[in-house]
Amino acid sequence: MRTTTGWRADGSATALRRAFVERRDLRPDDIAVRVDHCGVCHTDLHAVRNRDGGPLVPGHEFTGVVTETGSEVTRFAPGDPVAVGNIVDSCGGCAMCRAGQENFCHEFPTLTYGGTDRLDGSTTLGAYAREYVLRDRFAHRLPAGLDPAAAAPLLCAGITVWEPLRSLDVGPGSRVAVAGLGGLGHLAVKLAVALGAETTVLSRSADKADDAGRLGAHDFVVTSDPARPADARERFDVVVDTISVPHELGPYLRLLAMDGTLSQVGYLGPVTVDTMDLLVGRKKLTSAGSGGLPATEAMLEFCAEHGVTADIELLPSARVNEALDRLERNDVRYRFVLDLSDLD
Ligand SMILES: NC(=O)c1ccc[n+]([C@@H]2O[C@H](COP(=O)([O-])OP(=O)(O)OC[C@H]3O[C@@H](n4cnc5c(N)ncnc54)[C@H](OP(=O)(O)O)[C@@H]3O)[C@@H](O)[C@H]2O)c1
Ligand SMILES: [Zn+2]
Ligand SMILES: [Zn+2]
Repeated sequence: MRTTTGWRADGSATALRRAFVERRDLRPDDIAVRVDHCGVCHTDLHAVRNRDGGPLVPGHEFTGVVTETGSEVTRFAPGDPVAVGNIVDSCGGCAMCRAGQENFCHEFPTLTYGGTDRLDGSTTLGAYAREYVLRDRFAHRLPAGLDPAAAAPLLCAGITVWEPLRSLDVGPGSRVAVAGLGGLGHLAVKLAVALGAETTVLSRSADKADDAGRLGAHDFVVTSDPARPADARERFDVVVDTISVPHELGPYLRLLAMDGTLSQVGYLGPVTVDTMDLLVGRKKLTSAGSGGLPATEAMLEFCAEHGVTADIELLPSARVNEALDRLERNDVRYRFVLDLSDLD
């Protein structure tokens, strides 16, 4: 075992404390990464606030530099800049893995934290830490030209909205709405705009209207004003719903045009749907999560080509609990990223 330092919760704690974090010795196909930047995802907040008792180190969208490689690694060398998301292993043999959809692996992919290592059965600890060890296959080369801090959120927030946008063929001529302007939402806006779609933000926060325009959105609908959603009825081909709490889907389904699709990626859990909201206009409800390795590579290339990264507030990692508190209060424009160099 090797040891690094990170931000960790043990027992019933709902705040993170600086602590030692163990990493495995490198296997032949492993790399060790010095974590420089890690985004603060709302999923991390869910994990910290709803502890199940085991040790928790959050963090599943990070960039850094390779420091060591296992004996069989040929893709990377020490010094290479890399990016890692929320999956660090999968079975590699099932139909989903063979199709490049490791995120849907039949044996369930190994999550970057709170997952179960496929070989030693240990619980994975995330990237709010100075070092991470993973199979080289699940690391991505960070394209030149992408700022490593602002690129970190692409690896969870970005890919989670990229896969549905691509699989729903969003492009020039598509009318897309993004519900919830947070970490996922603001990247969904940038990506939809870069793909050529006419893009609208649906938000309950009227004070985000200027930002929406700056992000490239063509329209902004305040959902807390009943008149505005009524105006937007049947206007969109795709609604990407990133809202982090349970909510009624009917109002969003009614914004879809004929044969349109609501992709619910924010709140994951049981929902109630009146099938009449699907029947009228033959609408579809879907979801997505994370992305496969090929889609992640494609997204990174697209972002490098179009200059897409997150709008971030960069904080020393010692301020992680403040970042979580502010994220909980919706006080973030639009992603906190931790600078982990203060752990040295
Ligand atoms: N599917 C996946 O694989 C995946 C991956 C990553 C994250 N997630 C989940 O996606 C959700 C969003 O994550 P995030 O990091 O983007 O969070 P975030 O930055 O907090 O953004 C969530 C947005 O939802 C809206 N919202 C929050 N509370 C609301 C409420 N009570 N009613 C209506 N709208 C509300 C807000 O937008 P407005 O102020 O504009 O209304 C907020 O900015 C989380 O639940 C997270 O766990 C899923
Ligand atoms: Zn995430
Ligand atoms: Zn598999």
